[in-house]
Amino acid sequence: MIVLGIETSCDETAVGIVDAERRIRANRVASQLQEHAPYGGVVPEIAARAHLDKLDDMIRFALSDAGIGLSDLSGIAATSGPGLIGGVMVGAMTAKAMAAVMRLPFIAVNHLEAHALTARLTDDVGFPFLLLLVSGGHTQLIHVKGVGAYTTLGTTIDDAAGECFDKGAKLLGLGYPGGPMIERAATGGNGKAFELPRPMLGRRGCDFSFSGLKTAVRLLVAQKGEGMTGRFVADAAASLQAAIADILFDRTRNALQGLEAENVSVTSLVAAGGVAANQVIRARLAQLAGAQNLRFAAPPPALCTDNGVMVAWAGLEHLKLGQRDGFDTAARPRWPLDPHHAGKSIGKSGA
Ligand code: KG4
Ligand code: ZN
Repeated sequence: MIVLGIETSCDETAVGIVDAERRIRANRVASQLQEHAPYGGVVPEIAARAHLDKLDDMIRFALSDAGIGLSDLSGIAATSGPGLIGGVMVGAMTAKAMAAVMRLPFIAVNHLEAHALTARLTDDVGFPFLLLLVSGGHTQLIHVKGVGAYTTLGTTIDDAAGECFDKGAKLLGLGYPGGPMIERAATGGNGKAFELPRPMLGRRGCDFSFSGLKTAVRLLVAQKGEGMTGRFVADAAASLQAAIADILFDRTRNALQGLEAENVSVTSLVAAGGVAANQVIRARLAQLAGAQNLRFAAPPPALCTDNGVMVAWAGLEHLKLGQRDGFDTAARPRWPLDPHHAGKSIGKSGA
């Protein structure tokens, strides 16, 4: 079984190919950083047009990397939401057209589910597990019981963790995307240099909040005025990263304790989404899992940020269960993983 996956929900045009033996046969990612750089953020219309420009080539390159043709595929998957709707439509329509011509199954993949299931491809993680999904648009703790069986335990009440990294980086003049920039700048800094707030820390439950932290960084930068030195930026970046890591640690620990109190067992703690690429955060979560005798798994950093491999894998997981979608499946700007959860996801684009 070989599946091709297309990801176009934000600013990466990505195509991946995986097989049922958990082999990654192709992983092509074209970032649109340059297209959006003059505007200081992702412009939806520019994103959709760039996906349209690049997608055909990316599919061709991926098939060539894998050394296969379209007729070797068992199915074609595409992110069908949540995300910037213009881009999602480009990817989903392309996948449907290819599937229709080749008479192959089409699988409409939820972008969040693709992040959620990636550790099963990279680390062979079994169900059930606790997932910390941390990206540019989402920060959620999810009890993953199986493919399609997700219970949200906590979510952010304001910004997403990735957004906090991105806004912090912008304030510190580090550019976009902020997460990798903050991580790099922080290596030379002191995480205890500035006392930044850690909203929700020690509170019951496992919801998150980051807006107070963002405001604190803004005030810190304003106090400093024009004279931001390299040392200041490094210390501020390290302090921001330490605060975010503390928040994620505390909330995840509460989720694990909550599950234990309800006698719900999990095999592993899994981190996924762009922010899970951060080494300091990974180390803290690994420490937490270790203390609870749980396995910790997170995809390699390149598969934490948006990619086509995760979409192909999620498609393959559905296909293995005999699930496929109709060509009338709509692209969805919003598509919660757990429709029963009342909490709202606020962020960049929903992706
Ligand atoms: O999953 P993703 O690629 O796209 C969304 O679905 O949102 O996540 C992007 C987010 C951005 O906010 C980016 O700054 C953050 O992930 N990110 C990181 C790192 N790499 C990416 N945050 C912290 N440390 C990193 N190394
Ligand atoms: Zn994502």
